[in-house]
Amino acid sequence: MADWVQFKTNWLRPFLFFGNNWISLIGGALTTASALVLTGFWVVAFFGHSGSSNPYLGIVFDLILPGLFLLGLMIIPIGVLRRRSLLRAAGSLPTIYPEVDFQDPVFRRGIDFVAIATFVNFVIVGAATYRGVAYMDTPNFCGQACHVMTPEWSAYPVSSHADVACTACHIAAGIPGFLYAKVNGTKQLLMIMAKDYPRPIMADNKIPPARTTCLNCHNGDANFGDRLQVETSYGDDENNSVTKTVVLLHVGGSDQFGHRSGIHGAHLSHIEYAATDSTNQTIPWIRKIGANGSIVEYRSSDSHGSANGPWRTMDCIDCHNRAAHSFDTPEKALNEEMTEGVPSSSLPFVHREGLALLKASYTSRLDAAEKIRAGIRRFYQSRYPAVWNARRPQIDRAATALVAIYDRNVFPFMKVTWGTHPNNIGHNAFPGCSRCHDGSHSAKNGKSIPNDCSVCHNLVAVEDPNPKQLTALGIQ
Ligand code: HEC
Ligand code: HEC
Ligand code: HEC
Ligand code: HEC
Ligand code: HEC
Repeated sequence: MADWVQFKTNWLRPFLFFGNNWISLIGGALTTASALVLTGFWVVAFFGHSGSSNPYLGIVFDLILPGLFLLGLMIIPIGVLRRRSLLRAAGSLPTIYPEVDFQDPVFRRGIDFVAIATFVNFVIVGAATYRGVAYMDTPNFCGQACHVMTPEWSAYPVSSHADVACTACHIAAGIPGFLYAKVNGTKQLLMIMAKDYPRPIMADNKIPPARTTCLNCHNGDANFGDRLQVETSYGDDENNSVTKTVVLLHVGGSDQFGHRSGIHGAHLSHIEYAATDSTNQTIPWIRKIGANGSIVEYRSSDSHGSANGPWRTMDCIDCHNRAAHSFDTPEKALNEEMTEGVPSSSLPFVHREGLALLKASYTSRLDAAEKIRAGIRRFYQSRYPAVWNARRPQIDRAATALVAIYDRNVFPFMKVTWGTHPNNIGHNAFPGCSRCHDGSHSAKNGKSIPNDCSVCHNLVAVEDPNPKQLTALGIQ
């Protein structure tokens, strides 16, 4: 009891006396207001209505609001010390500090001030937080606010996942995934503020496993059977001559008896691998684990020693790694646009010239846009003046289409260029399936991971100007 009286006379009363100044009062109000906003959001989050799994919200709730809270706390003693030294200098330090008395008008005014300032701060901090949260929760924020995401943001709208939120694949469902993403998101934002981030940004195996993301929407056991895929390509000759390649892909899956087949069926059992690089492009060690626990190990003929990297269990992402933001090769992008009609394949050599311009190196997107347009114009002006004179609009449309292809795939400021982000789905532009199916990964018994063309697909037609099989099927 005596301690309490002593504490009151020696500490509490002087503190309240000196604390009754506008600096300390504002500090107090700031602290209370940010504490109220924080607790409000914690309560909402606790009852599961936060509605947001955005990793970058951490910056608001773990840095900005606690920061304001601490700032308020630090301002209070500054005001106290200032008032004390002012009073001391004026020689008017009281000998006895006044009782805490709610009737005292000076004390009352202080209390009123704190109450009003707290309310005002609460409204301001609360509204700012609410608006910040609402904004940070939109895909616009993820893709656009941070210019470092421009490459992914540009590729995303043309993917089959254009309507799927970034967070649906980037944050594992459940609390641990949420916490991990939050810590990581805060770290990333700080890196961006400090302008200290990797260029290019690579996934580096930090994507959560498919069972916590993809499989929330996709049925891993679906049976897709065979799938006919037609690729149209244009030649480098004057006529940009068209050929078609047709493959019948054995996608497969599980049938109603649980029997697995095809490309999907073969890997959805248990396959693990260890890579020597962070993009998993070089895979010397693979093992297949049977339902009964048996292990068959395959290793590439040029592997040395045993696996030292972590073993990764193969899932959807090992093949469909570019499901939401795939960067094309210049060949593929140009073939696709020409199939759509622009650049028009009736312009002589447009494929050869366009491809060369796309592949040239430029210092910036602006530089690329200028030089690609100028290059196309110069070519027709000097080599095909008749075409240049008669078909200017078509030539300009071709140039615009080429610039658009470049802008969708190459981002000099992020050091993202053709081929920076390999796509693992095939084996022509990138190693893809051949990382394992290259004929050189074999087990102790000499059996190797199969690489006959017919294991994965029937080659119906290869670079055929007019495949009769398509005509027979009525496909043009
Ligand atoms: C359908 C799932 C999915 C969606 C939706 C998705 N991503 Fe991704 N993202 C992935 C996968 C899988 C990878 C790993 C790529 C790899 O390993 O090659 C990845 C990688 C990344 C990377 C690392 C760099 C790179 O390109 O590999 C960034 C950055 C990224 N995503 C940003 C975004 C943004 C921003 C959005 C929303 C506009 C988004 N992602 C939407 C699945 C998705
Ligand atoms: C929020 C739901 C959702 C999530 C999460 C999701 N997808 Fe999809 N996925 C879709 C929808 C919707 C489509 C489009 C279906 C269509 O167009 O018929 C699709 C289409 C696909 C396709 C076929 C089209 C293509 O691009 O070849 C693949 C492959 C695919 N998803 C793989 C994945 C992978 C891998 C992941 C995890 C990294 C994933 N998806 C996560 C909803 C989702
Ligand atoms: C070994 C590689 C591999 C794995 C693993 C894999 N896929 Fe596929 N998947 C393919 C190939 C190849 C195709 C057909 C070519 C294409 O879509 O580009 C395909 C096609 C698909 C399609 C489109 C089918 C159609 O006909 O429209 C969907 C959807 C899909 N996969 C989802 C998944 C999901 C979900 C998983 C994980 C459970 C998965 N895939 C695992 C290789 C794989
Ligand atoms: C990480 C290594 C790895 C990658 C990458 C990989 N596979 Fe496989 N694949 C295997 C292993 C291991 C087997 C099982 C071989 C066995 O059972 O002997 C297999 C089996 C298969 C089979 C069944 C072969 C048979 O004998 O019936 C097909 C089809 C197949 N893979 C297609 C693909 C396709 C298509 C891709 C690329 C989209 C791909 N794989 C990528 C490791 C891989
Ligand atoms: C391990 C499975 C696998 C093996 C083995 C395989 N391919 Fe493929 N191949 C694929 C897949 C998957 C695609 C589809 C890629 C895509 O969706 O873009 C493909 C596509 C193709 C295409 C179509 C053109 C293109 O660019 O997509 C050609 C041509 C082709 N393969 C030729 C071959 C030949 C020739 C062999 C034998 C030497 C072979 N493949 C062996 C999986 C395989």
